[in-house]
Amino acid sequence: MKPWQSSIWYGGDYNPEQWPKNIWTEDLALMAEAGVTTVSLGIFSWANLEPSEGNYTFGWLDEILDNLHTSGISVDLANATASPPAWLGIKYPDTRFTDQYGVVRSHGGRQNFCASSQNYRSAAQALTEQIANRYGKHPAVAMWHVHNEYACHNARDYSETSAKAFRQWLRYKYLDSLKDVNRAWGTDFWSQRYHQWDEIGTPKITPDGTSPNPTMQLDFARFSSDALLECFIAERDIIRRHSPGKPITTNFMTIRGFNKLDYWKWAREVDVVSTDHYLMSNDPDSQIELAMQADTTRGLALGRPWLLMEHSTSAVNWQPRNRAKEPKELIRNSIQHLARGADGIMFFQWRASIAGSEKFHSALVPHAGRETKVWREVVQLGNNLKKLSELVNSQIENSVAIVWDYESWWALDQPNLPSMDLNYLNQGLEIYRSLWNMNIGVDIIQKPDSIDELTKYKLIITPMTYLMSKNSASIISEYVKSGGNLVTTYFSAISDLNDHIYLGGYLGPLRDVLGVTVEEFAPLMAEQTVLLNNGYQASVWSERAFATSAQTIAHYQDPSLDKSVALTKNTFGRGFAWYLGTKLKPKDLQEFMRKVTKQSKVKPVGDAPEGVELIRRVSDKGSWLFAINHTNTSTKLLVEGDELIRGIIVKNNFKLPAGEVAVIREQK
Ligand code: GLA
Ligand code: GLA
Repeated sequence: MKPWQSSIWYGGDYNPEQWPKNIWTEDLALMAEAGVTTVSLGIFSWANLEPSEGNYTFGWLDEILDNLHTSGISVDLANATASPPAWLGIKYPDTRFTDQYGVVRSHGGRQNFCASSQNYRSAAQALTEQIANRYGKHPAVAMWHVHNEYACHNARDYSETSAKAFRQWLRYKYLDSLKDVNRAWGTDFWSQRYHQWDEIGTPKITPDGTSPNPTMQLDFARFSSDALLECFIAERDIIRRHSPGKPITTNFMTIRGFNKLDYWKWAREVDVVSTDHYLMSNDPDSQIELAMQADTTRGLALGRPWLLMEHSTSAVNWQPRNRAKEPKELIRNSIQHLARGADGIMFFQWRASIAGSEKFHSALVPHAGRETKVWREVVQLGNNLKKLSELVNSQIENSVAIVWDYESWWALDQPNLPSMDLNYLNQGLEIYRSLWNMNIGVDIIQKPDSIDELTKYKLIITPMTYLMSKNSASIISEYVKSGGNLVTTYFSAISDLNDHIYLGGYLGPLRDVLGVTVEEFAPLMAEQTVLLNNGYQASVWSERAFATSAQTIAHYQDPSLDKSVALTKNTFGRGFAWYLGTKLKPKDLQEFMRKVTKQSKVKPVGDAPEGVELIRRVSDKGSWLFAINHTNTSTKLLVEGDELIRGIIVKNNFKLPAGEVAVIREQK
């Protein structure tokens, strides 16, 4: 697939069906003023496009598409399958979503469907056929937007329909062997052995104080991700037939905490990776989480440019308290995504609604109109992006990678672990933060299938990679042996991909490369901290761990742990492997990671004061340094080149004002 554009896309979800026609005219004028290039259209239009089964009303969409095209605005056109109309659930009750209590959810929200329902699939595919046929060659259509945020509201459906499909999925995975299912799930525990396929249902809620079989839950998570992916693929293929050559995407949710889909698998099926990102109001360092999610998206895109399909101009409406963005924050957020590889900056939504659940969600056009902070910044951002079009298709090169594993995250979301404080996302984010603070660029990668995926990195980090196959562990070990550097944390490689524990000492297949073995976990109580002999402080976790060949950097002070190791470094072949056996206090983790990165010869993007983010995009045309000042004071930077936003030449001692951004085309 060729690059999908030649300038940076700017715009957002456009829902004109919520407005009278005089507003449509005003919209076009305002879009021109803001420099909007692209809108996503029709995402929630099913009920308006197909008022009853098989009866289609496309007139209004024809008109909108033609108007947008005349105004030079391109369209990311949805196939409108994200929110089924009321008639579908009434006519075909099996299309509705069933939760883990077996409750069938009512119409009125959105995305109320069961991914395995053939009736849902047929209806969604029929609609897709109509839309793709009608608009496949429309000149306004620049991209296709299948569905919307798969799994946002209906990730795992527990109906009988899903149970049937789950059994099919299991038969395929386990080559029709019920014996193998029993073995994989460990069903001799608690009398769970299955003797007939039909005895297997969905892992609905079980009696108090118990939960469904862990491996069954893991397989159900895999199945559920796949079931939705099948919906995507079927709709995508219909569009491909009618609209050859036009890229097809579906917007992922690389948002703090969302982990319901195995995006590594999904990313292989889209032409362009796009994502939605929203800040959490209660996160004081949301710029760091944003950076990690943007890097994750670039990872899913395998380093290629991607599209920020949605973020917000200011507050959202779905958190307990919805923070309005500070002045300049909208631009900082947008440029952060751009710096990390986005070639488009889009929003939810174009115009703030006056009715419906999202009427208090910010938009490009706010309720208060044009004389507003939000609109001024929207226009300013549009202007800035125009000046940055030369960046399109440039990439980012990093020498550090964090392995990110949705399956380990699923397993760690389950109950019955040694501690409820084992938090996959937070531990990954903490390590990411320590690198962000040093302006060290990070790639987010999948658990490796081959050593080639690792050799370009100086340092690989596998935070809490709880599920690890022997194969992945041996690839990681090979990588270290041949001169790579590795950091692994506590609760890594505990189980295989069936969630069966490796025997003979925890850290199983990573014991050799780390030179450490763990004989017993000793989780800490809430608020409890422990000291290490080098003065570091830790929480959440301690354990009886002993070095077999590693050198001890620090051990636990607690005499009952017999000097168990907490931090170690092992020489393995030509490389080094560090073990981070506990959750360090942020300042101590920072110091530890500073040493690790230094010894691994990893270099920061550049020098800048704390809170000033530096990122570099490169291409065969040159390189661009992004500087983003997240602090309240202006800062001086030692940079040289053409600053594209201000249109000035900068030499050493460039002053970047508080809260502002700069993009410097560097001298060759
Ligand atoms: C109870 C049950 C056992 C086991 C233990 C775990 O005592 O009878 O089967 O589940 O709890 O603590
Ligand atoms: C998601 C959805 C949008 C909208 C926004 C609100 O990203 O895709 O339709 O609901 O959330 O933040």
